Amino acid sequence: MTNPETAPSPVWETIEACRRSFEARTIDTLFRVEPDRARRWTFEAPHVHADCSRNWIDEDSFAALLAWLESRNFEKKRAALLAGEAVNNTEHRPAWHTALRTPPDDPSVARSLHEEQTRFLGFAEALREGRIHGSTGEAIETVVCIGIGGSDLGPRLMTEALGPATGPVAVHFVSNLDPAELDTALTGARPAATMIIAISKSFTTLETLENVRAAREWLGATDVALDPTHHVAAVTAQPERARDFGIHEKRIFSFPQWVGGRYSLWSACGLPIAIAHGHRQFLELLAGASEMDQHFAQAPLDANLPVILGLLGAWYVNFWGVRARAVFPYAQRLKNLPPYLQQLEMESLGKRVNHDGRLLTYDTAAVVWGEVGTTAQHSVFQFLHQGTHWVPIDFLVVAEHEQSADKRHRLLHAYALAQADALSRGDSVLGAQRPTTPHGAAPGGRPCNVLSIPKLDARALGAVIALYEHRTFVQSVLWDINAFDQWGVEVGKKMLQQRLEQGTLR
Ligand code: F6P
Repeated sequence: MTNPETAPSPVWETIEACRRSFEARTIDTLFRVEPDRARRWTFEAPHVHADCSRNWIDEDSFAALLAWLESRNFEKKRAALLAGEAVNNTEHRPAWHTALRTPPDDPSVARSLHEEQTRFLGFAEALREGRIHGSTGEAIETVVCIGIGGSDLGPRLMTEALGPATGPVAVHFVSNLDPAELDTALTGARPAATMIIAISKSFTTLETLENVRAAREWLGATDVALDPTHHVAAVTAQPERARDFGIHEKRIFSFPQWVGGRYSLWSACGLPIAIAHGHRQFLELLAGASEMDQHFAQAPLDANLPVILGLLGAWYVNFWGVRARAVFPYAQRLKNLPPYLQQLEMESLGKRVNHDGRLLTYDTAAVVWGEVGTTAQHSVFQFLHQGTHWVPIDFLVVAEHEQSADKRHRLLHAYALAQADALSRGDSVLGAQRPTTPHGAAPGGRPCNVLSIPKLDARALGAVIALYEHRTFVQSVLWDINAFDQWGVEVGKKMLQQRLEQGTLR
């Protein structure tokens, strides 16, 4: 699988030998010869219990993968990330999203960060208490958040994952340039009681600005007494651009340039979450993420969950020729987790040059895809069980479902575990009921992680997202790439600009 000529590190040869050692084994045989396997390969992190036993992993391969990470000077790089050093070397700035979730009394973090947090959380509470009025005196009852990519996916995921909004304000999201999405969000909304929130780090993103202009026109279209400028707020790292756009200072909430778009839900970009669920829930989210940050910073590498998941991810890409991975949350409220992770991982890790700008000789990001279970079982699982190539899978389950009074929750939970067993260990676990025809056979060998959170609450969700963020960072260290820039997307934007300037929109 590996080409030693181009191997980036001598450790790769050892890892490749470990991979070959699995050729004569199956995941099922790993369980049969190692009775304690489930316990050995289960790891605990704050709010996450991770059963990684259904992987192609044993002591030798695990040790070799850890040696790969250590050969990359990982601990120094992790310390630099967490200390707010300029780890984003092409943009010369930190990627210090962890600072956003530190407690307010942490002396290492600027007071201004927490002051801005107090401001936007205060605005959210005022909206929830009906204290924010439109220009005709009506309390705001509908908020339409317009943003795209990192300025949409995280806030959208969390707002939905925490369940129905608890306050009186309905929160909608719009990202697409296709007018259909804004039209849907505005259907039934009354301009006099609507607030548009433009969320854009750069405040130059074409889709967002065009949609905000369209929403502003909608606001002003029917009521001559209504002043649309009173009904627009902004969240941005470029407050002066929002002011130039006509948004009043007191409704502009900012965050530092060093917060990457896809790492920004912890900043004022999380405003929709606080509007829908209240500031306490938002702070719980930060607290859960902060607990995971502590784990990532302090747990020994061989018990450090982001490290372990990152190693497994890179192991399959670089030594098993895998090009994709799938994520199946068994919870309807997490239906936006796969698209969120797509941006987190594919924008962070979809890179072809290393930190010094040299072309890589090995693969990086896997394609991330997924869907909620059990829905996905009836669409894509056939491919997973019997396709000619396989992808590693993360199942995310909610432990309290196992004891739920609602039988459907108990079945949901049990189904995830059954699928993980079938995919990894194959039909041999069925014993006498094993299929006897070639078309019925399911060989297994598809590695699965089962990540379990106690309940679907803000703390656990904060921890899960921080876990995936740090997992992404671990892979970027293994691959020596910058996880915090995204220069590739600029080319398409410039192409459009050229066409606009030349008047050729076709
Ligand atoms: O085009 C990619 C991107 O820059 C993402 O990284 C970002 O999350 C998204 O666009 C939105 O950017 P902004 O928040 O500046 O509008």
